[in-house]
Amino acid sequence: MQARPIDEDAIQRAVEALRRGGLVAMPTETVYGLAADARSDAAVRAVFAAKGRPPDHPVIVHVPGVEAFVDWAVDVPPSAQALAAAFWPGPLTLVLKRRPEVSNLVTGGQDTVGLRCPAHPWARALLQRFGAVVAPSANRFGRISPTTAQHVMDDLGQKPAGAVDVVLDGGPCPVGIESTILDLSGPSPRLLRPGAVSREQIEAVLGVHVAAADAASPRAPGRLEKHYAPRTPLELVPAGELAARVSALQSTPVAVLAPAWAARSAPNLRLHLIAPEDPAEYARVLYQHLRRLDASGAQRLLVAAPPTGPEWEAVADRLQRASAGSAA
Ligand code: TXA
Ligand code: MG
Repeated sequence: MQARPIDEDAIQRAVEALRRGGLVAMPTETVYGLAADARSDAAVRAVFAAKGRPPDHPVIVHVPGVEAFVDWAVDVPPSAQALAAAFWPGPLTLVLKRRPEVSNLVTGGQDTVGLRCPAHPWARALLQRFGAVVAPSANRFGRISPTTAQHVMDDLGQKPAGAVDVVLDGGPCPVGIESTILDLSGPSPRLLRPGAVSREQIEAVLGVHVAAADAASPRAPGRLEKHYAPRTPLELVPAGELAARVSALQSTPVAVLAPAWAARSAPNLRLHLIAPEDPAEYARVLYQHLRRLDASGAQRLLVAAPPTGPEWEAVADRLQRASAGSAA
């Protein structure tokens, strides 16, 4: 999908806002980020305040390129160089040992820092002109990540009524879910969050097995059980059982995300969004679909469990989190 042509005036306004310590909604290929000067504690604090995010959660530093390793990290392993060469710019965040002077606000007080070089042309233009920014997803803490500028307007809003100084509209995000996060600060690489750069792709570059996160890995709120959640309770149901589940809910209005064959019309079925068969296409539309289901007025959301298999790992992860905590 083609990104919108870069609006140079808007980028310039965004750079000026960042220089003043302000907040910029920045399109990236994954989701929109809430960007602020990564070297200013006051600016980073403003990000946490706008999101309502707990202060001990680390944020990803977005950098213009691999040469920024030396500004933020120490003991950078050859694996980090190899992965950056293979996947940067792109949807991969590398967790590395931090330089001692990196702010505790950025690292959440940990001895590591997350670095990512985004591929979206608007983000690249902004980073090349301004330098490094922190950019958590531009949503209120715990809510669904935004994949359009309108989502950011709906959730955080623009000043003076809202929280953001400049909202850059670079069009809908082509990847649609957050970056893969790989921890390279320990003895062996660990996948902290699955994303568009798959475990297999990483293993192919590194030539070693990549383990999932365990209790000893750095904390990441993306790994909190309930996250990326719609307001309406969401249930994951095997596709073959979905129609029966809709009927069983009888008078409860439901909205579903499922393959076309998996649901049939029923008096309580408010909305049926078709689940894409391709995992990348599913990821691209996932959050906008969750928002539409949430806005449908249904009291229960039913999502057909996606197919199993490594190419579905990231989508399955987000759906699992969206359903965590909802009553079955
Ligand atoms: O695709 C993305 O990564 C998006 C776009 C805007 O770039 N950003 C994003 O940021 O998802 P955020 O803050 O919503 O999620 C960042 C995740 C969090 O789970 C955070 O804890 C983790 O990255 N993280 C950041 N620095 C870390 C560190 N030093 N160690 C472990 N996890 C870290
Ligand atoms: Mg987030």
